Amino acid sequence: MKLAGKVALVTGSSQGIGQAIAIRLAAEGAKVVINYRSHPEGAAETLAKVRAAGGECYCADGYCNNEKGYSVGADLGMVEDVRRLVNESVSHYGSLDILVNNAGIEKHAPFWEVTEADYEAVLNVNLKGVFFATQAIAQHLIETQRPGKIINVSSVHEELPFPNFAAYCASKGGLKMLTRDLSVELAPYGITVNNVAPGAIETPINTKLLNDAEKLGALLKNIPLGRLGQPRDVSGLVAFLASEDADYITGSTFFVDGGLTWNYQEQ
Ligand code: BGC
Repeated sequence: MKLAGKVALVTGSSQGIGQAIAIRLAAEGAKVVINYRSHPEGAAETLAKVRAAGGECYCADGYCNNEKGYSVGADLGMVEDVRRLVNESVSHYGSLDILVNNAGIEKHAPFWEVTEADYEAVLNVNLKGVFFATQAIAQHLIETQRPGKIINVSSVHEELPFPNFAAYCASKGGLKMLTRDLSVELAPYGITVNNVAPGAIETPINTKLLNDAEKLGALLKNIPLGRLGQPRDVSGLVAFLASEDADYITGSTFFVDGGLTWNYQEQ
């Protein structure tokens, strides 16, 4: 098992890609901290699946783990909550080696109609949350003189335009540069930072698209491999990047998109 003895925190792991990552890391032997904001039932499902995969995990919130009374607010858009989440993960398992910054949101609107509240919601979760979660684990790793792995779940839209999702694109473009910058700044401490950039994956963030046959058909035509991705298409790469096999890899983005990036046409 690639990750035996490691502790991982996966943000936004009550559904979709985050859930698949939590299960996969646990299957590779890691102890996993699950985080959710608004779907305790999803976190409970992740917990059950992690256990079925033979892993150990802790849900940083108390709800989904009856024997626990811990409660950590887990809104990744709030720096105070982000710090508490990381600190609680460290105190629960005694250390933290892997952070998967997976939580993310998007909001559809023409650029000229985007409200300040929606801009802030997207940027706060997708970029500010990642910034301060990474800062918190970096402080822990530097203090305890241990190496670590940061993996950000970005998007093909750290590179590609996505009309009507300007704030989302700004957040993912920011994430690309944050990763590059931190790969240099944290390398002396043995901390690597990489991005995984999914294309169209069949998860709740794409519910609207999945229910719109016309849009879905048009998108599928743009995907050379001819299908949407599944969460497990992403989780295997994350497990690799979290492992010692990836010790010499930092500052890179890895696309998991069925070829979409090089074949993209906006509808
Ligand atoms: C977005 C999806 C979109 C996909 C491909 C993802 O980052 O979250 O809404 O379908 O990129 O464009």
